[in-house]
Amino acid sequence: MSDLGKLETEILAAIAASADEAALENVRIGALGKKGSISALLATLGKMAPDERKTQGAAINAVKDKVTEALTARRDVLKSAALDARLASETVDVTLPVRESAAEQGRIHPLSQVMDELTAIFADMGFAIAEGPDIETDDYNFTKLNFPEGHPARDMHDTFFFNPKPDGSRLLLRTHTSPVQVRAMLAQKPPIRIIAPGRTYRIDSDATHTPQFHQVEGLVIDKGSHLGHLKWILAEFCKAFFEVDNVNMRFRPSFFPFTEPSLEVDIQCRRDKGEIRFGEGEDWLEILGCGMVHPNVLRNCGIDPDVYQGFAWGMGIDRIAMLKYGIADLRQMFEGDVRWLNHYGFKPLEVPTLAGGLST
Ligand code: DAH
Repeated sequence: MSDLGKLETEILAAIAASADEAALENVRIGALGKKGSISALLATLGKMAPDERKTQGAAINAVKDKVTEALTARRDVLKSAALDARLASETVDVTLPVRESAAEQGRIHPLSQVMDELTAIFADMGFAIAEGPDIETDDYNFTKLNFPEGHPARDMHDTFFFNPKPDGSRLLLRTHTSPVQVRAMLAQKPPIRIIAPGRTYRIDSDATHTPQFHQVEGLVIDKGSHLGHLKWILAEFCKAFFEVDNVNMRFRPSFFPFTEPSLEVDIQCRRDKGEIRFGEGEDWLEILGCGMVHPNVLRNCGIDPDVYQGFAWGMGIDRIAMLKYGIADLRQMFEGDVRWLNHYGFKPLEVPTLAGGLST
């Protein structure tokens, strides 16, 4: 083989063997660069006799064309291989779930969610939100609510008392939200229409009792308020809260010192494989106490019972939260376990409204 033929074979082999574009560029410089092997051959043409130059020139240029062509072809191959490799290494699986931003990762505790839900429902019916302190006086928690001194109903409340003051009076952790009724009646003139959700405390702990729990109190005082109104309000609340079309309720006679008559309300339900369904079935479930406000309570709070009358109720929020969201043990609500909260909690931007759906 001629020297030129050998050179051509060598260069074409080097081109084919180039593994990437940088290696290929080195081959190009070695052949066609200023000091390249083919360039060097072309430089010898000037010193040749015209005949020789004609044949040699054509031969060298033919090699140069072949090499140039091979370089271009190889560069195309390497370029698309590099692109394929990059695409493979940078693939994005668009079907993977989107990672939540930090602001969306937190969860609203089911109790907070339920408080927001019931506030939305009662606000829609025209109730204002009232509040009172967790640390109450014996007077507001018991006496003004018609619990006479020494009455056994006081003992039923398993009260956390603070140490007595020098004058003998004692503060306590409120055992129910009913003292907020007293505060509302002392602060406002009728008509009064309030609900008071909040913390309450009793010395008690098992699967359905925790020393700190939550109630929502309701109070309506006006000239013509009667039990029929109360019944309608509670039925509408239950339908809206449990998101069902029909709730059957049962009113049972009961006793509370601050109401006369006093009633307890059960809702009809069916318990099925650990699930509870409302508006059907054979079971009854107690959810609240209620009644017409006792004339003594009105009088104790500066309202004339011959002019005004009203009704009130107190409902266990933890209880209805457990029922609605299928939470088996009340104590879990207070353990602060992030896994539990991730499971039972709600997305922070999904604020319950009646129009938008409470728990969707
Ligand atoms: N305060 C009562 C309790 O904790 C519940 C209750 C019953 C509240 C009747 C009321 C009511 O307002 O009218 O056991």
